[in-house]
Amino acid sequence: MSPSNLLVFFVNGKKVVEKNADPEEMLVSYLRRRMGLTGTKSSCGSGGCGACTVMLSRYEPLDNTILHYAVNACLQPIVTLHGVAVVTVEGIGSTKTKLHPVQERIALAHGSQCGFCTPGMVMSVYTLLRNKPRPSMEDIRQALTGNLCRCTGYRPIIDGFRAFCIDQSSQCCQNGAATGGCCVENGMAQCSLQADMDPSQHLIFPPHLMGQITVPGPQMLKGEHHDVIIYAGRISELRTLTWTNTGVSVGAACTLSQLKEEMERVVTEEPEEKTRGFTALLNTLNTLASTQIRNMATVGGNIISANPKYDLSSILAALRCTLNVASTDGLRTLPLNEEFYVDFGKTVMRSDEVLMSVHIPYTTAWEFVWSFRQAQRRELSFSYVNSGMVVRIREDTDEVEHLNIYYGGTGATLLRATSTCHTLQGRRWGEELLAEGCGLLQLDVRVSPAVHGGRAEYRQTLVLCFFYKLYLHVLLQLTDRNVSVNRVPPEFLSALTPFKNEVPHGHHTYQVVPDSQSSSDPVGRPSMHQAALQQATGEACYYDDLPQVKGELFVVMVTSTRAHAKISAIDQSEALLMPGVVDFLSAADVPGSNRRLWFSDTEELFAEEEVVCVGQIIGAVVAESREQARRAAQSVRVTYSDLLPVFYTIEEAISHQSFFEPQRTLQRGDVDTAFLTAQHVLEGQMYMGGQEHFYMETQGLIAVPGENGEMDVFVASQHAAFTQELVAGALGVSSNKVTCHVKRLGGGFGGKVMKIASLSAITAVAAAKAGRAVRCCLQRGEDMLITSGRHPFLGKYKVGYNDDGTIVAADMTYYSNGGCTLDESSFIMEKALLHMDNGYKIPNLRGHGVVCRTHLPSYTAFRGFGGPQGAAIIESAVHEVAARCGLPAEKVREVNMYSEEVSYTHHRQLFSPRGMQRCWAECLQKAAYQHRLESIQEFNRANRWRKRGICAMPLKFGVGFSKGFYNQGAALVNVFKDGSVLLAHGGTEMGQGINTKAIQIASRVLKVPMSIISIKETCTGTIPNATPSAASFGTDSVGMAVKDACEKMMRRLEPVMKKHPECTWTQWIIEAYYQKISLSATGFFMGPPTSVDWEKGEGEAYYYFTFGACCSEVEIDCLTGDHKNIRTDIVMDVGKSINPALDVGQIEGGFVQGLGLYTIEELQFSPEGVLRTRGPSQYKVPALCDVPPQFNVHLLADAENPYAVYMSKGIGEPPVSFGCTVFFAIKQAISAARRDAGVEETFVLNSPATAERIRMACEDQFTHMASSMKPSSCCTPWSINV
Ligand SMILES: Cc1cc2nc3c(=O)[nH]c(=O)nc-3n(C[C@H](O)[C@H](O)[C@H](O)COP(=O)(O)OP(=O)(O)OC[C@H]3O[C@@H](n4cnc5c(N)ncnc54)[C@H](O)[C@@H]3O)c2cc1C
Ligand code: FES
Ligand code: FES
Repeated sequence: MSPSNLLVFFVNGKKVVEKNADPEEMLVSYLRRRMGLTGTKSSCGSGGCGACTVMLSRYEPLDNTILHYAVNACLQPIVTLHGVAVVTVEGIGSTKTKLHPVQERIALAHGSQCGFCTPGMVMSVYTLLRNKPRPSMEDIRQALTGNLCRCTGYRPIIDGFRAFCIDQSSQCCQNGAATGGCCVENGMAQCSLQADMDPSQHLIFPPHLMGQITVPGPQMLKGEHHDVIIYAGRISELRTLTWTNTGVSVGAACTLSQLKEEMERVVTEEPEEKTRGFTALLNTLNTLASTQIRNMATVGGNIISANPKYDLSSILAALRCTLNVASTDGLRTLPLNEEFYVDFGKTVMRSDEVLMSVHIPYTTAWEFVWSFRQAQRRELSFSYVNSGMVVRIREDTDEVEHLNIYYGGTGATLLRATSTCHTLQGRRWGEELLAEGCGLLQLDVRVSPAVHGGRAEYRQTLVLCFFYKLYLHVLLQLTDRNVSVNRVPPEFLSALTPFKNEVPHGHHTYQVVPDSQSSSDPVGRPSMHQAALQQATGEACYYDDLPQVKGELFVVMVTSTRAHAKISAIDQSEALLMPGVVDFLSAADVPGSNRRLWFSDTEELFAEEEVVCVGQIIGAVVAESREQARRAAQSVRVTYSDLLPVFYTIEEAISHQSFFEPQRTLQRGDVDTAFLTAQHVLEGQMYMGGQEHFYMETQGLIAVPGENGEMDVFVASQHAAFTQELVAGALGVSSNKVTCHVKRLGGGFGGKVMKIASLSAITAVAAAKAGRAVRCCLQRGEDMLITSGRHPFLGKYKVGYNDDGTIVAADMTYYSNGGCTLDESSFIMEKALLHMDNGYKIPNLRGHGVVCRTHLPSYTAFRGFGGPQGAAIIESAVHEVAARCGLPAEKVREVNMYSEEVSYTHHRQLFSPRGMQRCWAECLQKAAYQHRLESIQEFNRANRWRKRGICAMPLKFGVGFSKGFYNQGAALVNVFKDGSVLLAHGGTEMGQGINTKAIQIASRVLKVPMSIISIKETCTGTIPNATPSAASFGTDSVGMAVKDACEKMMRRLEPVMKKHPECTWTQWIIEAYYQKISLSATGFFMGPPTSVDWEKGEGEAYYYFTFGACCSEVEIDCLTGDHKNIRTDIVMDVGKSINPALDVGQIEGGFVQGLGLYTIEELQFSPEGVLRTRGPSQYKVPALCDVPPQFNVHLLADAENPYAVYMSKGIGEPPVSFGCTVFFAIKQAISAARRDAGVEETFVLNSPATAERIRMACEDQFTHMASSMKPSSCCTPWSINV
């Protein structure tokens, strides 16, 4: 900032001058709210998702260059931007001028579904291309490590960007792949044809930004007054790397990217023995956070933060780095060691001292260095434990001269294994040292059960296993130098190479349309998502992108901090005095009903007398701005008196007999008698944790009051009609006064059906009371706390089976954790029961479903709606039967699968399993299952610390609502005199492509190009009483309704067309207009009368079934619990696909979401029922590194479905269940490890199969050592399994 306190920077080439800029204002809000540049999205606000990625460019006077780097705008204070040029997605191209090739590619490749992540993806790759116009695929992969997508499964995004890449490995028409025409034209857009880069589209760096920066005057930051705030990132002296003959001095303000780049250079240029420390550092830097974070984070900031989860300190300390520190007293040098850190977040440095640089020494010929880290996810994830280890061996011997071992993540501060290092000095590197070292480490490093983040036993195991890895690494070096008589057994070698993150790619096949189909008929062709270009350019509008309405206010919820308590008093007086605060609302302010009625279940909008979970809405603060509302909400004082009982887990609910009604039972055959005839009976259970929707766009809306009690609600809802009903109810007005508008959702996945209606009602009440528009936009943490997600399930089973694996009887009891209110829990439990047979004909099958009432936020719908839980638990039983019979799991699946053409489900619904059988056979064949199974067995014999597993499963998934009245759809087609067509329907576009498919259908019927048909929004005033977009039924209901409406229109136009066959569409329309023919037609679809008679336990629950099969292979690291997905093949029967590209996208995205559910997504609750995992830092959804490098999806050819529109099938939900193939492949791999360790091969593995669970299930000497240290009386655990 200049001395005159003017902050000057550029945005998309436009100069911005800010006087007295707020040091707390982040770039993302500045862009979105002050500049109206809403293309940059805000999703997590914490650097963990990449949705807000923008490019910064600045002049670097040190070497007279212009640097371009991607950053997270949500972490970039605007005051750091003086002299910087910002480029946002709007700055690189638009549909109105010219698209940038990056925008075009992601759209064409079907890499944009809901589109909320898309601008961030675009900017990450755009920045890469600015720096490296011809990148490798690995460069592209790395550029995207900080960008999350919850919809696509990443593969199409990566494929789209292949076009910029120098690699010639893609399956592309350009590389001679015989695809018959260009890949892009064929629709799957893998074409690596050079994207047309136009340098003139690059914004020129503003020439007069080539200057220096100065320091701001006194400022407030984080509520505290600071005389001086120095932005170290812009002080040249702190940003240099200086090489000396002892090593390198790294300026404290060097970014981690700068350090990484320099280390990459030096390890290739300098002798290996000198740079081993740098190689180890690189190893850490490669997976530390993301490109965006590394571009912003400084070496000094990482060290001084004194956060044991941060990775740099352990390796730098092990390398015996020194810190050069300056103050007005002069310079001093401090060793970077355990004494530097005094507590969490605290170092020995005084507050008046500044870290100038870190000196990293070269290594010597007999010095060996390794760094290790293990995290929840391999990239963009803090480590559980990180470690730096340096061993100096006496020259030409195998004797330890010096040892330096540091661990981070084992306690509040960095820890040195002091006595281990001291005692092992002088010892020879061999088995005895290993044993002694492990014993010493157990004394040196004791992870307390109360450690921040929990998982103490696992962390303790990692401490030992990292040391063991070091042992093997050094031994290998010593045997190579012929100074050790010990050898690393070949089967141990694989423990030494970390998993490599790879670029996913895949093969896709689908049925092409017959030659006889008109080339202008788009049905069956892979058309791009209708709004993909708008999404890629940031033009697509989500609710929070709508400009401020004049006088608009903001509302923030005040939520309960107690799990079960009486509300004694609410004191909002302090909040009401705060600047900008307009009002505080609670139950008494609701003019209509404070109840949300859902079937027979009611839920309070605002808690009235009692709270029943942490996160329950008690009140709401309305203020002029969101910051003011948020600050004020925190100062509302609620006094509680706690109530008993209070409990959170399924087990506790069972012991309290705390259940919701109705409980459900389904039975086929005589289960009890069949158990008597079975050769064997096994009993087991499987717990499945819940799942957070983590849609990239958080929940919210804008309520705009109108005249005469009217209210317009612009909302991200999957069920606009329900939102309308609830808003009207809360306002005490009739539904015709309330209009809900849904343009699009940035992802829904079932999470935007129920809670959004309550939020809308509260916001509308605030708007009605204030007489002003009110906006509500949940922050990520609020969203995760308030809205909850997928139900945790506990499945207990008893299975009777014979030696050949035939299951003759199964008795299953499902318990779900429903949370504090019923919401949709009983319907979800019903769906779990209806899917408990999956694809298996178990002649005697009984399922009992119980929803537990606990004091947690109410669980709700999530893609699959109980199906994934139902399927996983029967798959667990099948897996166990196979293990006990000693049979390959796929054989057991085969003998039990439905096979007769005329089959009946356990709820007596007639169906033909032919599609499933075909998918199964084709999947095994395409996956080369048998061959790979043998290779896996061979691999497992040859490797002790790495194991592989493979699992294939069939799937039968019911489509449609089992409540028959929901199976309806409505549409409206309006044709204007210029021939353009405006479609409306009751579905909501949330990325699944419902609008695209509706337009394809309309185009076929009306025989007009898709380009003249548009869909503007979903509006309750246009299509009344629409059912939710859910149950994989959206296209079925909407598609049929659109078809009906368009057919009606065509019947009306037919006489005109017949009379004037030579005319064009527009001429027919004009003629029809003159003939007073209505150019507006409604369509309706009355779906099937599905229902289940729960008394009898039978009924046609579904319209039809979508079938499929999936095969996944994984590899696990038995020492750390890390796993790598290797390959997945899916064959899916989607009937005759309306749009194969969208269907493949749903399959890939659904699978990856399932992969998250069953492997890495873990919600943690404190013992007081408080959700701890409230953002991407704690809760990990799959990132690019989790996608199998080989990911093939095939749509079953020659498939049909007489029940749905144009023979298609619903596909949104089924693929989620396939994620459990990864889970069972992991379980198989763990079994192999346990076999080697000589422990019981059958064991319980709960879902998700996190690194912790995998590691602890691979029982061995290290886990035994770690568990032997467990204190007999445990202190309060970090989290509980709910
Ligand atoms: C989403 C996310 C994921 C991350 N993942 C990882 C990870 O996996 N591993 C990891 O190691 N780190 C991770 N980090 C941390 C990251 O690497 C940075 O170290 C951290 O964000 C600090 O950033 P900074 O450099 O901007 O420091 P700042 O936030 O600017 O500073 C941090 C502290 O250090 C002080 N400070 C900074 N420089 C100096 C100096 N020269 N002299 C004196 N005091 C100074 C500041 O006053 C402040 O108190 C992650 C961060 C985010 C946001
Ligand atoms: S919103 Fe900035 S990284 Fe998520
Ligand atoms: S398209 Fe990526 S989050 Fe929806």
